[in-house]
Amino acid sequence: MYKLTVDILLYLFYMQIVYHIHIILSTEMTDMKNANFPTDAEGRTYHLYLKHGETASRVITVGDVPRAIVFAQTPGFEVKFVRVAPSLFTTITGLYKGTPVTIITSLMGIPNMDFTIRELRYVCQGPMAVVRVGTCGSPAAKVGEVTVPTKFHTVLRLPDGFGPGAENATVEQQYYISKTMHGDDDLIKLLQEKRNRL
Ligand SMILES: *[C@@H]1O[C@H](CO)[C@@H](O)[C@H](O)[C@H]1NC(C)=O
Repeated sequence: MYKLTVDILLYLFYMQIVYHIHIILSTEMTDMKNANFPTDAEGRTYHLYLKHGETASRVITVGDVPRAIVFAQTPGFEVKFVRVAPSLFTTITGLYKGTPVTIITSLMGIPNMDFTIRELRYVCQGPMAVVRVGTCGSPAAKVGEVTVPTKFHTVLRLPDGFGPGAENATVEQQYYISKTMHGDDDLIKLLQEKRNRL
């Protein structure tokens, strides 16, 4: 835990030097309005601490800050804006070969992804293209394999399906598995073509 904290602080320090960013402290967030979807006086959202105009409509989400930095260092990417929110959600907006792109850390797990997408949707106008690049456990893929999923389920582990008294629990009592969801067909096709050329 100590090592991890030091690593995160080092990365933030590095980003401050390289990108001249201001890390927002939660003590600065004193003027939040609307407990249901809090924003400050300038319309900045609570978790990402972003307002209109600070993000592009093309978005790459990654799990952590080091990965965001790796994407930001892609040749041809010119950093224009960096924001580190108190929750450590980190947003880097810039131009990739002239096209506005936002790289954002969605951190870990479903609640953080929910904050990321809902608050991005709030600050971004018009259609959005969002691609999550990350790691995922799989019963089928090999370690290191790049996969482009075409359909998705939310899988939640149900606490009552495990532990004392749940020895005979069925899969349905152990997991909630949602109906199938689909990504954007055109975006998936483009990603598959790129993946095949790796
Ligand atoms: C699980 O099933 C076994 C065999 O039918 C039974 O003996 C046991 O009482 C069950 N356990 C619970 C917690 O229902």
